[in-house]
Amino acid sequence: MADPIYRAPKGTHDVLWPESARRRALVGVFADVVEAAGYTELVPPMFEHVEVFRRLGDTTDVVRKEMYEFEDRGGRQIALRPEQTASIVRSFGEHRPALPWKAWYAGPNFRYERAQKGRFRQFDQVGIEALGPEDAHLDVEVIATAWRFYECLGLQKVTLLVNSLGGSEDRARYVSALHDHFSANLDSLSEDSRTTASTNPLRVLDSNRPEDADLIDSAPSMLDHLSDEAAGHFEQVKVALTSLEIPFTIQPRLVRGLDYYVRTTFEFTSEVFEAAQNAIGGGGRYDGLAEAMGAPPTPGVGFAIGVDRTLMACDAEGVFEAPDTPVDVFVVDTTGGEAALLVTDELRRSGLRADRSWGERSMKAQMRAADRSGAAMAVIIGDSERESGTLTLRDLRGDTGQESVALSSITETLLARLK
Ligand code: HAM
Repeated sequence: MADPIYRAPKGTHDVLWPESARRRALVGVFADVVEAAGYTELVPPMFEHVEVFRRLGDTTDVVRKEMYEFEDRGGRQIALRPEQTASIVRSFGEHRPALPWKAWYAGPNFRYERAQKGRFRQFDQVGIEALGPEDAHLDVEVIATAWRFYECLGLQKVTLLVNSLGGSEDRARYVSALHDHFSANLDSLSEDSRTTASTNPLRVLDSNRPEDADLIDSAPSMLDHLSDEAAGHFEQVKVALTSLEIPFTIQPRLVRGLDYYVRTTFEFTSEVFEAAQNAIGGGGRYDGLAEAMGAPPTPGVGFAIGVDRTLMACDAEGVFEAPDTPVDVFVVDTTGGEAALLVTDELRRSGLRADRSWGERSMKAQMRAADRSGAAMAVIIGDSERESGTLTLRDLRGDTGQESVALSSITETLLARLK
């Protein structure tokens, strides 16, 4: 095959069937799980005024290096959303729904990242955000909802990492302790981390560079900098997770890539991936974000799950498989096509997935098309069927052969056979 003239841009890809059907099914499972917990769907725009995302933190890579920003024809500074929490909180400030407000969302995000396996420039997320209560049990509801979703997909090799970043004052004290720790040993850090150590020392903890490993290991722990209030909140989270029998690992170095987090943060990793791209979801509390956006001060907690990576984990674990056929029935008509027109219409209206062949092709060519379609059954209409007011049903997969069925009972027979 000749090389195509155009390809999808780097870091993006087309999602063809059956993968597309699987994604839609994943969102369906997600909607069932989160709606059972009282979350309602919010569909925010895919782009916002750039300031909305600047609230994620000017020192984060997501904002500094990865945003798709442009000026629109009206001179507005716009950014494609790199994530949806900021949009949800902007929407909260705009509409002021009653509290608690529990919203779910699904859709693409855009980050100009170094494209590689499991890391894309356009990627889908599903997520929830809960605004209002500070109750630690809400943090646990959010975490448990993600956990139940992974269970519904059939994933078993998921690890939950949790941490607390403390309240905003604790966080500031910890950042200053980290800053001192790294500044005293700048020469031992990688070049990239040296810069990060002065702008955003927390992010150094996220470095995968081998040169940084020792200093990260000896860094002070966040958990030693928690106020009594934050430590109590974290304790309640741990106790409630234990009561729900959700296994977790405390990871005091878990800082996550966005700056809005305080108190509980968490991440889900899949044991089937290498460390760098193993996060299949993550989230936490962002109690100051609403206020930073000019909305009434309102605590919030939520998560987002990466759809692409979660499906890769499903592949590796052999669960939540893609459907194997696009249609159930294939109609073959060698009498001119009028019968195929009517029969496919009737089958489709009964809820069956039905396709047919096109043009006046021979029986042999149409049967080949029926086999290729992946349908379980073929409905055959030839001259003899036409004369006798019957149709021939042929089993395309098993060995039950074929049978003659009255035209008037074809739908009923197929529905019973394909159940
Ligand atoms: P995040 O950790 O940036 O958090 O992204 C959540 C998940 O999205 C990641 O764990 C990963 O599975 C997936 N993801 C992120 N970037 C990429 C990429 N370039 N390619 C493929 N998958 C990716 C957030 O986005 C927060 N808004 C989560 C949140 C919600 N926190 C509170 N509420």
